[in-house]
Amino acid sequence: METKRWSVDDSKPAKELIMEAAEYIKKGKLVAFPTETVYGLGANALDSAAVDRIFEAKGRPKNNPLIVHVRDIKMAKSLVEEWPESAQNLAEEFWPGPLTFVLKKGKKVPSNLCAGGETVAIRMPANKIAQMLIEFAKVPIAAPSANRSGKTSTTDSIHVLEQLNGKIDGVIEGGLTKCGIESTVIDLTSRPIRQLRPGPISLSQLELVLDESIEYQPVVIPSSIKSPMKSPGMLERHYQPDKPLRVFSTREEMLEYLKKLPDGYRYAILSREDVFKNQRLGGEPHLHILSDDPKQFSMLIYYHLQIIEKEDIQEIVMVLPPDQQKWHAVRDRLIRASSN
Ligand code: TXA
Ligand code: MG
Repeated sequence: METKRWSVDDSKPAKELIMEAAEYIKKGKLVAFPTETVYGLGANALDSAAVDRIFEAKGRPKNNPLIVHVRDIKMAKSLVEEWPESAQNLAEEFWPGPLTFVLKKGKKVPSNLCAGGETVAIRMPANKIAQMLIEFAKVPIAAPSANRSGKTSTTDSIHVLEQLNGKIDGVIEGGLTKCGIESTVIDLTSRPIRQLRPGPISLSQLELVLDESIEYQPVVIPSSIKSPMKSPGMLERHYQPDKPLRVFSTREEMLEYLKKLPDGYRYAILSREDVFKNQRLGGEPHLHILSDDPKQFSMLIYYHLQIIEKEDIQEIVMVLPPDQQKWHAVRDRLIRASSN
């Protein structure tokens, strides 16, 4: 199939183009679009055939449920059996924004969207294009990240097309996404409330609003994984760049490894600072430097990984950012990206 492209200025999106994309959604077609986190692969959430096509286009296992994007709280309420006070309080504080709630699913939500489970994940995106698309389509939009299953999420329409061109009906090209990593996901049906995926909204920001503590088990470096994560989607291999990513806990460990690399061994170093300046490293390093600020780093990490993986290299190496809350979302993605 040919993938239609709508090129849109995200500060002043052209209404007619987004209306055309919304018509596609209404007809059960697949349209990728920018959100403030990453690009989403959208379809009418209430149309189970359209939802099936999302799973097909992504090659996503059917046991991994999708997130539904809504325009307002009213639309969110229409999708759930219960809208608890916790959801109301968090929505008032953080919506529209990068925070997803897992709630008890309502009757009109197709069961394939929820992978046959009793809950549904919902968020209200902050991106103007995403908001207009839902508004014009007049339906909630199911949208997982717009990537092939197991590959890196996309933060730019070029990368969406690299992975999904010919497999989806259209893409709204709205520039680089602002957060660069996926939303925080919390399960509001469990007691205590659990964070299933760390993201741009931190655990302490959530706890401040809820006035209770949230359970969270950070992912650890694979060799020491003790028990599987409980969120269905967290079980799979996730966020894998095309070249192996090797992560180290400390700079010293990494230097130790790099010094021993043989001549001709080509690799990329993804670094938060130019800490390798006066070091003698083995092999042929290509250096990529990202910001040492967690927000800036998050914004560009997937973008860089997708560029680096196309280089003529054998692997990517990096030191993980410190085990501090402000880095948890990024650590989570990098540890997953490095596991195989
Ligand atoms: O920022 C985001 O959340 C992006 C943009 C497009 O909104 N979307 C996104 O979707 O990251 P996806 O499908 O790539 O990740 C959704 C995560 C998966 O790990 C999935 O397993 C989990 O949320 N999830 C979805 N529904 C769930 C449910 N009912 N219970 C538990 N986890 C759920
Ligand atoms: Mg994803």
